[in-house]
Amino acid sequence: MLTVALPKGRIAKLTLEKFEHAFKEKFEFHNRKLILKKTNFTFLNVRSQDVPTYVNYGSADLGVVGLDVLEEKSYDIVKLLDLQIGKCKVAIGLKENETINYNKSLIKVATKHENITKRYFEKKAMPVDIIKLYGSIELAPLVGLADCIVDIVETGETMKENGLKVADTILESTAYLIANKNSYTLKKQAIFKLKELLDVSV
Ligand code: PRP
Repeated sequence: MLTVALPKGRIAKLTLEKFEHAFKEKFEFHNRKLILKKTNFTFLNVRSQDVPTYVNYGSADLGVVGLDVLEEKSYDIVKLLDLQIGKCKVAIGLKENETINYNKSLIKVATKHENITKRYFEKKAMPVDIIKLYGSIELAPLVGLADCIVDIVETGETMKENGLKVADTILESTAYLIANKNSYTLKKQAIFKLKELLDVSV
C-alpha cells in the first residue's frame, strides 16, 4: 500500500491528468473529500506547500510538488522524478519603466518565497527588506509597498496586465515526484513501479 500526497491549486489538474494517464482510470476527489482510495493506493488532497510536510513526516510515502516549494524550505526527502508538468519560474518582477536601484541602502521586496528571495539577494550582497505576502504579489510595487517582487511567472500574463516585467529569473521550476526516505527503502519496489508508470506517461 502506498500513500501519495497530491497538490491542490496550480498543478492539481495536470497532476490528476498525469495519474489518470498512468493508471488508465479517472482520478477525482469527490464532494470535497480529501482522501481517495484505489487498489493498493491512497491519495491525499493537500495544499501544495504542505505536500513535503506529509512526505517528510511519513504520513505520505510519496508526493507531487513544485521545485519552487521544495527550494523554499529544506526537507529531508528523496527527489525521484521530474514530472515535467507545471513549468514556471520564480522571477524578480519590476515596474516596466524601472530598473533595480543598486545604490539604495535597502531594497523592499514583496514575496511568498522568503527564503529563495533571501538567498538570491545575499549572493548579490544586496541588503533587502523582505515583505511576506500570501498572494496577489504583483500589487505590491503598484501601491508602493515594495520596490520589486519575487514571484511565480507561468504565462507572464499577470505581470504584463499589471505593468510589470521580469528583471531576472531565479529558478526554473517543474513538479517533482518526491518520496519519504524510509518508504524509499522499505517500499522501493512499489515506488519504482509507480515511478516508471509516471515516467513513460510523459
Ligand atoms: C500565481 C503567481 C502569479 C501568477 C502568475 O498566482 O503568484 O500571481 O500566478 O501566473 P501567470 O504568469 O500565468 O500570470 P496564483 O494564481 O497562485 O495566485 P496568488 O499569488 O494570488 O495566490
